[in-house]
Parts: sequence; C-alpha cells; structure tokens
Amino acid sequence: MTAVSTPSFPQGFLWGVASAAHQVEGGNSNSDGWLLENVADSIFAEPSGDACDHYHRYAADIAMLASFGLNCFRTSVEWARIEPEEGTFDPAAIEHYRQVLETCRQYGIAPMVTYHHFTSPRWLLADGGWEDPRTPERFARYCEKVTAELGDLFDVACTFNEPNLPFLLGALGLGAKTPEERRQMPMWVNAAAALGVDAATVAPFQFTATPQGYDVKVAAHRLGRDAIKSVRPEIAVGWTLANSDIQAAPGGEEVAATLREDINVRFLEVSRADDFVGVQTYGRHVFGGDGRLVPAPAGIPVKQMGDEIYPQGLGSTIREAARVAGVPVYVTENGLATTDDTQRVQFLEDSVDVVADCLADGVDVRGYLVWTLLDNFEWIFAYEPKFGLVAVDRTTQARTPKPSAYRLGELARSYS
Ligand code: BGC
Repeated sequence: MTAVSTPSFPQGFLWGVASAAHQVEGGNSNSDGWLLENVADSIFAEPSGDACDHYHRYAADIAMLASFGLNCFRTSVEWARIEPEEGTFDPAAIEHYRQVLETCRQYGIAPMVTYHHFTSPRWLLADGGWEDPRTPERFARYCEKVTAELGDLFDVACTFNEPNLPFLLGALGLGAKTPEERRQMPMWVNAAAALGVDAATVAPFQFTATPQGYDVKVAAHRLGRDAIKSVRPEIAVGWTLANSDIQAAPGGEEVAATLREDINVRFLEVSRADDFVGVQTYGRHVFGGDGRLVPAPAGIPVKQMGDEIYPQGLGSTIREAARVAGVPVYVTENGLATTDDTQRVQFLEDSVDVVADCLADGVDVRGYLVWTLLDNFEWIFAYEPKFGLVAVDRTTQARTPKPSAYRLGELARSYS
C-alpha cells in the first residue's frame, strides 16, 4: 500500500489572517483616508465611520481568531493616531497598540506588524505626501518611535503595505493620477481646499503612481527598515506587495512583460536587501494584443466584484517573488470577496494546496495569511465586498464566524 503523503509545512509556519487598522478600527479621523472619504465628490462609496469598532473590540476579536486554531495576526499600527501632529507622539495611542499586541501574545498568536497600511496622517498629506523628498525621513522617525515603544512584542514587521498597488491600478485604467490630472478631479480639488494646498501636490499613498512616488516609497522603505533595525536588529523586516499574476494572451507578450517589470519586478528587487517579502495575491490579469482581457471567460466561477476566481495565481507570484527577491516569502494576504462562503472554503483549500506545491519544490514559504478576519471597510467599495472569515452586523457590530473560519483552522492543524 502506498502511503498518502501529507505535504510538509515547516515548523513554525504562520497560519492566520491579515487586517489593517483603518479598515476595522473605526474613527480614524486624523488620517488622510478619513479626509478623502468625507469630502464632497469623494470616490469612496461611503465613509469608514465606525468600521468594525475593532479599536474597542480587539480583545474579543483576537480571542475569536485564536479559537479557530490560527497562530498569527497581521495587523497594522496607525501612523495618524500615533503621530497626530508632526513630531508629536500620542502615548495613549501607543499604549493602545501595546495592549493589542500583548493580547495577541496572551492567546499564543504571533503578531506581524505593518507600520503603514495605506493611510497616513492628514498633516503628511497637507505637506507633500508620498511625492515629497522629506517623507522618507518622517516615516523613519515614526518607525524608530514605534520600534522603541513596541518592538519587544513582535518578531516580524512590514514597513509598507502594497506600495505598488497604484501602479497595478494604473495598468487597469483605475485610480492612479498625475499631478495635473488631480487638478481636474473633484475629490482631489476638494481635499486640497480643505488642506489649503494645490491639488497637484495631494499625493496619498494608495493613489500615487508617479515616478517620484516610486522613489519616495522606496527611499522611505529603506530608511524605515534601517530605523527598525537600528533599534531592534532581531526583527525580520520586509514590505508587502500587490503581486498579481500578470499573464500574456497571444499578442500581449510585450505589454505583459513591461507591466510585470513595472508592477512586480522592480519592487521585488528592492526586497533583495530585506529579510523577507510579503506576497499578496488576489488572482491574475491577462493582457492580449488589444489590452486587458476582461471579464472572466463564461462559465468560470467569479468573485463578488466580477473577476475570475483563480487560486493558481498565488503559485506563480510566490515563485516569481522567491526568484527575483531571493529572500523568504510570507503570503501576507490572499483572499476572496464573496457572499457565498462555500466558494471561500474551496478557495482556501485550493490556495493551501498551491502553497504546499511551492514548498514541495523547495521554495522558502513561511506563512499563509488570509485577507481577512472581519467583513470590513474595503476602501472605495466601502462595505459591499465580503472578504471576511467572520460576518459583522453593521448595526449591532455582532460577529458571526463563517464556515471558512473553521476550515482555515482545520487546515492549519492538519498541516502543523
Ligand atoms: C489590501 C487590503 C484590501 C485587500 C482586498 C489589498 O490590496 O492590502 O487593504 O482590503 O487588498 O481588496
């Protein structure tokens, strides 16, 4: 009889979920995101408001995630709360995050901390944002403070979440705006008026895809990493990228190669000097001779926002990241927006198989984190997309775990 071999996941492999402060905490009113959501002509479907009130409910949320059998929580600390005015740090906000991280540890959950997940302090947006050469130093000062105050509580840190996302959105004809275009767009113009600056200079992280924006983000990552290491050299530091599996249909080879370079490769090359790279994959984008091929071919299961469900994409992006960056990989986000949780269960099973295949081929993958714990604030789409393993009642804030939450826990147990 042949033994059925169980794929082997390395000891200490991280199984968990990823989340981000602004999307769950609620009331992040000093942030640039809050401003953009609340100005007239906002492109956000609705403001984040109270979100999931995770700021007050974090202890129960962490206990719940531990009860599923997971061992890692990727969460972010919010710059806008920690440094609400330039150079002024708020001890109460720092203490809050200390409690969050200590709660993780009490439940045997390893926190992975993202220092910046899309939102920035409003003062930064008013003073050049992610195109200003002073921003890297400012970010590094914040990194140093956070590490000095909280760095004893975690072993793995991400400086940034998806600095390349605006470049991917740009390739899809979404979001990214040049300074000149910002002057034409009502949301930018209104935000600029509220800040008392010229709309051309309003450069939020999530929407900045200019060459200058690339340089500022890369410089900020390097200085931020060095600042973290200068305080606690033992913390593993990297950044996480929006790694789409960019494919070519016949005739699209050249455009796909150019986009892969622009969106994935040049960012992965930056990771060569880091301790790891975080891979975040939500599927593939296929380009033919006439541009992007959309929508998914008929008959293929689709996710809530209409794109094809394509778990295999994660295999390509993990391998591309390992090959180009040459450092260990954590899957720091992978998920599916759907109102049909059976689709999500299938997706998780398929995705874990994909990770197992990479491991079997000798790729150094160290964790698999699902986006996300709670149905949360999904940026411009607000609360419509349902990525959570746990449903949240928007009126009562009651949490109801979905079958996929327990299935992820089972997968973690069966491979540990
Ligand atoms: C981001 C998350 C986002 C998720 C799903 C990623 O691009 O890091 O903040 O909610 O995708 O849309």
